[in-house]
Amino acid sequence: MSGGRLVVVSNRLPLGENPSGGLVVALEDALKTSGGLWIGFSGEAAQVASDHLVFHDGASFGRASFDLTQADFDSYYLGFSNSVLWPMCHGRADLSHILPEYLEGYRRVNARIADLMLPHLRPDDRIWVQDYQLFPLAAELRKRGVTGTIGHFLHIPFPGPADCAALPNPAELFEWLSHYDLLGFQAQRDLSNLSESARQLMDVEPLGHDRMRLGGRLVRLGVFPVGIDTAAFMQEARDAPDEDRMRTLTGAQMMIGVDRLDYSKGIPQRFRAFQILLENHPDMIERIAFLQIAPPTREAVAAYRDIREETEHLAGRINGEYATINWTPIRFIHRSLPRRILAGLYRQAHIGLVTPLADGMNLVAKEYVAAQNVTNPGVLILSRFAGAADTMQEALVINPHDPWELAEAMAIAMRMGANERRRRHAALLRDVVEHDVGWWSATYLDALEQAAAERGQVVDV
Ligand code: ADP
Ligand code: F6P
Repeated sequence: MSGGRLVVVSNRLPLGENPSGGLVVALEDALKTSGGLWIGFSGEAAQVASDHLVFHDGASFGRASFDLTQADFDSYYLGFSNSVLWPMCHGRADLSHILPEYLEGYRRVNARIADLMLPHLRPDDRIWVQDYQLFPLAAELRKRGVTGTIGHFLHIPFPGPADCAALPNPAELFEWLSHYDLLGFQAQRDLSNLSESARQLMDVEPLGHDRMRLGGRLVRLGVFPVGIDTAAFMQEARDAPDEDRMRTLTGAQMMIGVDRLDYSKGIPQRFRAFQILLENHPDMIERIAFLQIAPPTREAVAAYRDIREETEHLAGRINGEYATINWTPIRFIHRSLPRRILAGLYRQAHIGLVTPLADGMNLVAKEYVAAQNVTNPGVLILSRFAGAADTMQEALVINPHDPWELAEAMAIAMRMGANERRRRHAALLRDVVEHDVGWWSATYLDALEQAAAERGQVVDV
């Protein structure tokens, strides 16, 4: 991207000596060449919020963190971000928990981040804000006189009219969004939800398919499906521990699920479908072992504690009912694993199970495909409600709410011959290679540059 420096802002800052992970790798070049800066939360709760950013060495681009007091963390992160916005964006308004202090904390933290950023900004910076935790940031920066280009990318689904209407003050969401030059989404579904919600709730008509006038300002809209660092992940899987040794360790064909323990991921539905598989296809007993890796997340929020309890209970019940002396149907690991190990597990799993009830993209689907051995690949079972399903149609695409359909897909995957597995996998891999995270960031940043070039022009629409 030509022009000014790139400044990325996200809730989580990639810290650690060698920051890795798809997003970092994708943005590293752009950040390096433009002397860029990445700003985010340090992960530390402080007694008193500090009045400056802390700069970190050890990366090829600038990294600066802010801390949060426990009260800010509770209201901004656990509260408005993850007890209000997250459930509304994932179609679970019933799990939301609205308190006035959550919205106040969310506004306050975004205003504070803008204050902390201000002394470090340059007039020609291109600011790229990530995700739902920071919707108000552009509005706060504008209040403080920032006139440069600011883009936003939403990693999770955008809510439709019914869920938008369930927010405490829906008009405020549109006011926040109106201060961005470009709004990026994972899937067409999200862009359509934005247009429809704006039409129904704000009486705003979209201008064609990629523009909208919000609060008197022209905002560009686009779909940019996020990818993974495919080449690096393929290498990681090839370097993983030897497959035959791993297979003798498990004894049966492995089916794998890897998710944060979040109610949006459809884990109980998966367990019920697995139970139906064992019930309806007794020949599968001792032939298939389900490994679910799901580290608990956001546990201070009641809905997350509930999903943990529900899944543990279900796994225990199914294991109690179906286990034999030699075989445990479900192994449930509540920890994060190193990426190298994860890549090896994906590679040796005959089935990759990705069944969210709602998901912006779902990167696990892409990682599973990238990790396969191309001569003997496994089968991806993918929810139609993951953004990934838009381009990954060669997976077994299922409705995760229907455990009978999902159980049948498991049986089909178990019996699928090598030729069909190779054909499906080759098509999936082409997409994951072509649309990797580098493609994603380059495409977004090109669109942001175009938005910058058009700023201030009178655009015919
Ligand atoms: P979300 O952003 O909602 O968590 P995604 O599937 O898009 O869902 O991304 C999850 C990322 O976190 C993936 O890169 C995945 O490999 C990683 N991840 C999830 N669970 C684990 C785990 N138990 N150990 C290590 N990494 C994990
Ligand atoms: O992909 C959505 C997202 O909420 C990211 O913004 C976030 O980093 C990730 O999921 C994990 O969630 P958290 O940061 O709340 O643990």
